[in-house]
Amino acid sequence: MKSRLFSGVQPTGNLHIGNYLGALKNFVRLQSSYESIFCIVDLHAITIYQEPVQLRAKNREIAGLFLAAGIDPKLSSIIVQSQVAAHAELAWMLTCVTPIGWLYRMTQFKAKSETIREKSDTQDSIGDGLLQYPVLMAADILLYQAKVVPVGDDQAQHRELTRDIAQRFTSLYGETFVMPETSLPSVGARIMGLDEPDKKMSKSATGAGHAVALLDEPSLIKKKIMRATTDSNPAVDFDTMGPGVANLLAIYQAFDECSDDTMRERFAGMRYGDLKKTVAEKTIEHIEPFQKRYREMMADPAYLDGILKAGAERVQPIAAATVQLVKERMGLYTASR
Ligand code: TYM
Repeated sequence: MKSRLFSGVQPTGNLHIGNYLGALKNFVRLQSSYESIFCIVDLHAITIYQEPVQLRAKNREIAGLFLAAGIDPKLSSIIVQSQVAAHAELAWMLTCVTPIGWLYRMTQFKAKSETIREKSDTQDSIGDGLLQYPVLMAADILLYQAKVVPVGDDQAQHRELTRDIAQRFTSLYGETFVMPETSLPSVGARIMGLDEPDKKMSKSATGAGHAVALLDEPSLIKKKIMRATTDSNPAVDFDTMGPGVANLLAIYQAFDECSDDTMRERFAGMRYGDLKKTVAEKTIEHIEPFQKRYREMMADPAYLDGILKAGAERVQPIAAATVQLVKERMGLYTASR
């Protein structure tokens, strides 16, 4: 029997090449080796206020992007988190075994609450859900007894917390969950912002030249990459390059999947103008067919809805079995058999 794989993407902001190279591309590569579940995590999205009409549309958009990236609904289940109530149910049970201090230490909680405090004009307080965010993420993974969790580097702390919560549950109630492992891509696990290469590329950043969105027009992709921050060298020097040049090279290598030696042969000594042109061409070469497939998918909303419904139906029994087991372990009421 194949081990299970689980990963999630939030239906917020515009998905960018960091999400693609750090996560989606890896999902597609791994899907046939595991029993894979890919989840659109709308319950996570609402930890920060979302405009309801936009959120509803985003759920379908992410499903379309998954399919365009090459996730095959015959091999993998694509689900929306709020369609499977057991995510929220297990999250509550795990909340009760998670020390609150673990949650206050999470860097994403600190960063996001800081942003709300300083900048948000749609939200005047920090919701409790933001603190509980990683517990819900642990519930997502543990609910399906997933062994493999492909994510980008920014999710490392949440992933570790999932293991800590599982271990704590075990020490209180006995062996219950499969211990999840990590799966990071070798290149592309952390794509940086084009304008600020010391910060990860982020869906919520506002700078016009920060991220290449997966649905950007090719001409805009080119413009953004041509304006990317580099450093004071005139040309690529692998020993002294700054983070902006390293990031452009990582984008190229993650798309092309070539070796480190090939990268050196192709790029050592190349002037930055030519480097950017080459990276832009490589990105567009991959994104254009992707966008075409996306448009085809979005033209048929009934097809998308059918895939999400089938996905939810397929995973329900797995989720129900875990919730039943957890209830039994914790002594919650279950009808006698
Ligand atoms: P989200 O929606 O922020 O990001 C989706 C995936 O994209 C990866 N990623 C990146 N990879 C490389 N470079 C970047 N700049 C970059 N930015 C984002 C993320 O690591 C992620 O893999 N909490 C998760 C969603 C989630 C989840 C889960 C993931 C909820 N439950 C259970 C795995 C398992 C999140 O916010 O991802």
